[in-house]
Amino acid sequence: MNRLVVIISICFVPTAYSSEADWCYNDPTCDDTTWPANFTHFCNGSRQSPINIVSAKAIGNVNLTSFNFTKYKDNSTINSLNNTGETVLVQLNSGVQISGGGLSEIYDSMQFHLHWGNGTSVPGSEHTVDGTRYPMEMHIVNTKAKYNRNITAASADSTGIAALGFFIEAMPGNTTGSPAAWKALTSYLDNITLKANSVNITSGFSLDDLLKGVNRTKYYRYLGSLTTPNCSEAVVWTVFKETIKVSKDLINLFSTRLHIEHNATSALMTNVYRKTQASNGRIVTTQATVSGVSKTSFSLGLMAWMLLMLYC
Ligand SMILES: *[C@@H]1O[C@H](CO)[C@@H](O)[C@H](O)[C@H]1NC(C)=O
Ligand SMILES: *[C@@H]1O[C@H](CO)[C@@H](O)[C@H](O)[C@H]1NC(C)=O
Ligand SMILES: *[C@@H]1O[C@H](CO)[C@@H](O)[C@H](O)[C@H]1NC(C)=O
Ligand SMILES: *[C@@H]1O[C@H](CO)[C@@H](O)[C@H](O)[C@H]1NC(C)=O
Ligand SMILES: *[C@@H]1O[C@H](CO)[C@@H](O)[C@H](O)[C@H]1NC(C)=O
Ligand SMILES: *[C@@H]1O[C@H](CO)[C@@H](O)[C@H](O)[C@H]1NC(C)=O
Ligand SMILES: *[C@@H]1O[C@H](CO)[C@@H](O)[C@H](O)[C@H]1NC(C)=O
Ligand SMILES: *[C@@H]1O[C@H](CO)[C@@H](O)[C@H](O)[C@H]1NC(C)=O
Ligand SMILES: *[C@@H]1O[C@H](CO)[C@@H](O)[C@H](O)[C@H]1NC(C)=O
Ligand SMILES: *[C@@H]1O[C@H](CO)[C@@H](O)[C@H](O)[C@H]1NC(C)=O
Ligand SMILES: *[C@@H]1O[C@H](CO)[C@@H](O)[C@H](O)[C@H]1NC(C)=O
Ligand SMILES: *[C@@H]1O[C@H](CO)[C@@H](O)[C@H](O)[C@H]1NC(C)=O
Ligand SMILES: [Zn+2]
Repeated sequence: MNRLVVIISICFVPTAYSSEADWCYNDPTCDDTTWPANFTHFCNGSRQSPINIVSAKAIGNVNLTSFNFTKYKDNSTINSLNNTGETVLVQLNSGVQISGGGLSEIYDSMQFHLHWGNGTSVPGSEHTVDGTRYPMEMHIVNTKAKYNRNITAASADSTGIAALGFFIEAMPGNTTGSPAAWKALTSYLDNITLKANSVNITSGFSLDDLLKGVNRTKYYRYLGSLTTPNCSEAVVWTVFKETIKVSKDLINLFSTRLHIEHNATSALMTNVYRKTQASNGRIVTTQATVSGVSKTSFSLGLMAWMLLMLYC
């Protein structure tokens, strides 16, 4: 069990967050403009993430059915929080899985982490929709169960990783400390203010609690990459349309509590997102809507009728 945890951490370090400053977000010598040159495998590739999603161009696909979420209700799956210097990484215990959703097989949910700008005033989601950037974005990272949580093996498979992206928006009004699960999660940020700090989670809240309010049957799908070096082109992306609503005070904690080095005089962690990448003709799909289908069949029917009229 402990050995498994160690293996997972080791496997995640090189790809998700290298310890030394060979990549970063806010220093011109290592920010995302340098990644294509410094990580030629694969940050200079042609199916990179994130992208701007153009909602009107998303194509309906009947295979994008609902997901099965295993242990997302369980309030003891959230293991620990880690300040990696680039994000807050939340490690999940084994047994958390997803399937369905047009995915070819079962995937293990390994971890989630977040991307943000500077509080509610400067948005920092990675994906944008019709040019709109949201305040934050949560990424749940899943690897095909057959790879036994080995991220290196999953990265070598063009669909080895399934990432779930959730936009986070400010809750309207003056509510504070809400939802309770986000209050519980963010209460641990004070325990990991410095890079490499980590804290074990004891209070019971579940992934479902964190995702509350999002109808998880409505999403965009496209093939892309990890959004941090080495940007492996191994990711089936799911970006949910509905947003998680979190009160402003909690959103503001991310950009005001965490430092990027193991040192309280180092910069606060802000604007931790990669800029959008060229879509290079990639197609974004979504659920085939009833109105879309009937509109198409209506115009097809109309066309057939007109052809018939022409011939008669
Ligand atoms: C990354 O690229 C920048 C500019 O392209 C260069 O100055 C820097 O040395 C590179 N860093 C690494 C770790 O290769
Ligand atoms: C849906 O999945 C089936 C079976 O894999 C495949 O044959 C079909 O082409 C898919 N449909 C679309 C619209 O992608
Ligand atoms: C989802 O779960 C239901 C009930 O457990 C099961 O019948 C179904 O086969 C699962 N679907 C997928 C795609 O895993
Ligand atoms: C973030 O916002 C705070 C106050 O709103 C400001 O003092 C700080 O300079 C901003 N940081 C960055 C990196 O823009
Ligand atoms: C993970 O997979 C890679 C590539 O398949 C393999 O070389 C490595 O030994 C595996 N690591 C572990 C810990 O099993
Ligand atoms: C929010 O708080 C401000 C100042 O504290 C107040 O003026 C405003 O009416 C409040 N809005 C709501 C919706 O409660
Ligand atoms: C987190 O920090 C708080 C306040 O500093 C402290 O009371 C609590 O014991 C810490 N929790 C853990 C698990 O270290
Ligand atoms: C936390 O992240 C740091 C930096 O990536 C890493 O060195 C450390 O092993 C991680 N700690 C845990 C408990 O995962
Ligand atoms: C977290 O729990 C693990 C055992 O699961 C333990 O080895 C580690 O020291 C704990 N970390 C902290 C920061 O308490
Ligand atoms: C966690 O879930 C268990 C079983 O569903 C329940 O008894 C317990 O009260 C929950 N704990 C919290 C803190 O919600
Ligand atoms: C989620 O959206 C689907 C499709 O619009 C709808 O049929 C379903 O009732 C919604 N579920 C909830 C819980 O609102
Ligand atoms: C803390 O970080 C700052 C800024 O990164 C750096 O200038 C300073 O030398 C560091 N101090 C220590 C004690 O590491
Ligand atoms: Zn991410």
